[in-house]
Amino acid sequence: MDKKTFYISTPIYYPSDRLHIGHAYCTTIADAVARYKRLAGFDVFFLTGSDEHGQKIQRKAQQNNITPLEYVDHIVASFKKLWTKLNISHDDFIRTTDQRHHEVVQAIFQKIYDQGDIYKASYEGWYCTPCETFWTERQLVDGKCPDCGRPVELLGEESYFFRMSKYQDRLLTFIEDNPDFIQPVSRRNEMINFIKSGLEDLCVSRTTFDWGIPVPFDTKHVVYVWFDALTNYITAAGYLHDKEKFAKYWPADIHLVGKEIVRFHSIIWPIILMALGVELPKKVYGHGWLVVEGDKMSKSKGNVIDPLELIDEFGADSIRYFLLREITLGMDGNFSREALINRINADLANDLGNLLHRTLNMINRFNGGLIETPGAVEEVDTALIDLAQRTAADYEILMENMDINGAIKEVWALISRTNKYIDETGPWALAKDPAKKERLQTVLYNLAETLRIVAILISPFMPFTSPKIWQQLGIRSDFGKVTLQDGQSWGGLPAGTKVAKPEPIFPRIEDKGEPAAAAEDKTEKSVPAVPEITIDEFAKMDLRVAKVLAAEKVKNADKLLLLTVDLGTEQRSIVSGIAKHYAPEELVGQHVVMIVNLKPAKIRGIESRGMVLAASSDDKLTLVTAKDMLPGSKVK
Ligand code: ME8
Ligand code: MG
Repeated sequence: MDKKTFYISTPIYYPSDRLHIGHAYCTTIADAVARYKRLAGFDVFFLTGSDEHGQKIQRKAQQNNITPLEYVDHIVASFKKLWTKLNISHDDFIRTTDQRHHEVVQAIFQKIYDQGDIYKASYEGWYCTPCETFWTERQLVDGKCPDCGRPVELLGEESYFFRMSKYQDRLLTFIEDNPDFIQPVSRRNEMINFIKSGLEDLCVSRTTFDWGIPVPFDTKHVVYVWFDALTNYITAAGYLHDKEKFAKYWPADIHLVGKEIVRFHSIIWPIILMALGVELPKKVYGHGWLVVEGDKMSKSKGNVIDPLELIDEFGADSIRYFLLREITLGMDGNFSREALINRINADLANDLGNLLHRTLNMINRFNGGLIETPGAVEEVDTALIDLAQRTAADYEILMENMDINGAIKEVWALISRTNKYIDETGPWALAKDPAKKERLQTVLYNLAETLRIVAILISPFMPFTSPKIWQQLGIRSDFGKVTLQDGQSWGGLPAGTKVAKPEPIFPRIEDKGEPAAAAEDKTEKSVPAVPEITIDEFAKMDLRVAKVLAAEKVKNADKLLLLTVDLGTEQRSIVSGIAKHYAPEELVGQHVVMIVNLKPAKIRGIESRGMVLAASSDDKLTLVTAKDMLPGSKVK
């Protein structure tokens, strides 16, 4: 039997400028849905592209003294670079300057003209070039474009008109009969009201510029850019060129678009299709707008966020995660650097990163890196297993409803629960007691198995991260072949799997977001004036690498840990005030730096001989480590 198919599109963006974080937001949503559908076994066609014609682009090219095609070629290359870096998995990238598209636009314009739904008339109207939209006098707000508020110009010309009015009632009936066609519901109501207020025939050609597809039977006209642009969705699906492909993927399942262009997609586009006798898409989904630190992005405000720079700084998966997690689909959302860093640190470095790191560390240390067959199931295990299974089942329902945000929240609830499971089961204590070996193996298995499921469920959101988790867990099967079902069945992790060495997948970000120069100033001022010392004075400190052999909490002292360290030639006990920052089991095996010749001190009745070095500021603290150095190595 043929696979079920799924066709999702993004808007084709204008290559009048480089893309910003708002465009990346829309494409990331579409990518997450496309990846999810592939995971669920669908044959997916995911389309994005560029909308290259129109007056705005022609003017930009003129300003730059190059041809429109040279101008767009350059910018379209930057679109493609962005999608590669963001790990976007589109199956096709359509440019409206493609020959295949040129042919389709001319053919459908001709067909609609021949059947009498396009006619010639003279016209005068107010044109907003940035929006490429005509308005009537009565639609203007304070004499400006009602959509963007920018100035409009009076244009008069002989033009071709598309008989939209003829289809008004059919469209209204269709929208009323198909409650899911326009989503979210608020957008649907807006559109119904708009149609009820009366559709006017649409001007679908221009003579005032020539950067467009010529009207086939009257070549001093070019086809109106929106008529040209909307058609991309059938060109790419094979309309007129590849009947089999078109039959397979059309009608599109979702046209994902920003809320400002829902009107074009749910009124003009369906009427074009009705005139052609082609089935309508199943859904037009209008997502909300991203604002930056509460403000609309604009060049004049200088607050346009370049997603390429952000990816270079934080990594693609962190950006993808933030966009999908922080903003509820359909609502407007805020981008802020602080919120991004908080999410990375709390959800990625802390919750997910630590779970993986702790789990692998314990499997390596307590069981020679081997994941073994679990033994008898206890109540605490059942709770975890049930939650993992429920999460994977709910996830499917949420994703099918486009509730990406809700799906992510559920997966993170599972991650938190699993971190808690470590504390409840205390594997480090089980490891000390040979009689508890089977129990230990059960706990370690459950941890690794939950991570296997998490890796599958997050793969639509973080496609770079999932294969890394897979590899660190030591699973040999190809992650590319994984299915949603694999993520929904507990016990898929084969016993005997040997885990890899843990590598941090999401390092904590310490950045406070200040421009570099300001940050330097501050450190200069805040370093207290400690008197200079000579190199000989410095050499009096015997600093060495020490390996932590054991760590435990000091009774009745919530800040203190008692460490046993190996200095190569001897072992020592040290009391260290780092309990708020490190769990004992995280420390064992680490190679830290310590001062060896510090005068011994008694702390809470325990003799402490030496001190481990740590960097700290405010409430943060990180131990100074020397990962690959042998215990006893000199530090200077
Ligand atoms: O409208 N927040 O192209 P466009 C969220 N070529 N999404 C945003 C955004 C923001 N601040 N800014 C832009 C066009 N977007 C036409 C489309 S389709 C046949 C033709 C996203 O380059 C959002 O998806 O102006 C919006 O609809 C789209 O980019 C507009 O991109
Ligand atoms: Mg726009």
